Amino acid sequence: MKDIIVAIDGNAATGKSTQSKKIALFLNYKYIDSGAMYRAVTLYAIRNKISPKNLSQINLMLSNIKINFNFSNGENKTFLNGEDVEELIRSKVISKKVSSYAKVKKIREFLVLKQREFGLNKGIVMDGRDIGTVVFPKAECKFFFKSDINISANRRYKEIVESGIKTSYEDVLRDVSKRDFSDMRRVHSPLKKAKDSLEIDVSNKSVDEIFQYLIRIIEIKRKELN
Ligand code: DC
Repeated sequence: MKDIIVAIDGNAATGKSTQSKKIALFLNYKYIDSGAMYRAVTLYAIRNKISPKNLSQINLMLSNIKINFNFSNGENKTFLNGEDVEELIRSKVISKKVSSYAKVKKIREFLVLKQREFGLNKGIVMDGRDIGTVVFPKAECKFFFKSDINISANRRYKEIVESGIKTSYEDVLRDVSKRDFSDMRRVHSPLKKAKDSLEIDVSNKSVDEIFQYLIRIIEIKRKELN
């Protein structure tokens, strides 16, 4: 069967990466977490005290950044210039600051090019905010996840607490809402559903229920293409 590109976009904390990893594992595809790339750039910028407003420093910074992934057994690790930053990029500080860096046109252009390189040979699942609209407008399968904001925040809250980080539900709700607000209203590639994307309300569905549904659609698409 021909390999395809699966693009999963949607609001924050809707389970895009959980589903993307499961699909990639099932199909033996690559998995690319585009949000992790924006987070890694944010980490580099914070470490080097580079403001999202300082465009000359941003340009220089981008020429010094290499982001890679290691996806194995359904687990993904993000590497920034060879350093495993998977845990660091999930911190509160990065979650709060990432939207202000994700707004910057130069950063988006740089990361979109990298994301397209990852997809050159297809056989890839990528999740994010602009994958179906900007990165791979011709992706064979596009999904758009939405969810009740309280359910999303609760999901993310549980994930954070399980990873051993202290936080409050209210803080997570504020962060997820602010991020969605900023991601939807930014000028460059805002979060929005591609016209040919299939919208899925994940609010009251189990992980397995959503996964079975996605796989059914992907398999239909793959058969049509052969
Ligand atoms: O998926 P995530 O929550 O890890 O993404 C972190 C931030 O990165 C998110 O608030 C918006 C930004 N992002 C983006 O602008 N475009 C993408 N394709 C992926 C993420």
